[in-house]
Amino acid sequence: MIALACDHAAVVLKNTIKEHLGKRGFEVIDFGCFDEKSVDYPDYALIVAEQVAEGKCEKGILICGTGIGMSIAANKVKGIRCAHCADTFSAKATRMHNDANVLALGERVTGVGLALDIVDCFVDTPFSGEERHKRRIDKITEIENKYFK
Ligand code: RB5
Repeated sequence: MIALACDHAAVVLKNTIKEHLGKRGFEVIDFGCFDEKSVDYPDYALIVAEQVAEGKCEKGILICGTGIGMSIAANKVKGIRCAHCADTFSAKATRMHNDANVLALGERVTGVGLALDIVDCFVDTPFSGEERHKRRIDKITEIENKYFK
């Protein structure tokens, strides 16, 4: 299950991603927003981040104008490794190396064709499982445990 949400700046790309993933056979839950009425991106980042952190959804995708606000907010939730990506190399690498569990995209930055390719890389690429990457992710968790209550 993939949790999906956006703010008012990214409804069109969110709907396109939802349709694309649906056609590919993925189950997607759309947490909004659903129109261009102004909303606050942290509210939507929190919903998706909690779904993933609590194990209700395997991965999350968040979209705002730049992708930056969503990624900053989602990364405040313990257990979330949200990667803001604007290229396919980073999307693959963040799955293989960081085991990223949330992807953030910017509708005002990344064209729809590239955005869908990034989404495909994110959902199709497994974590490498290599010891050095596990060790580094464990160190991220140690930082979380030290600073996030
Ligand atoms: C909304 O205007 C915009 O600030 C938001 O979509 C996002 O880009 C924030 O990081």
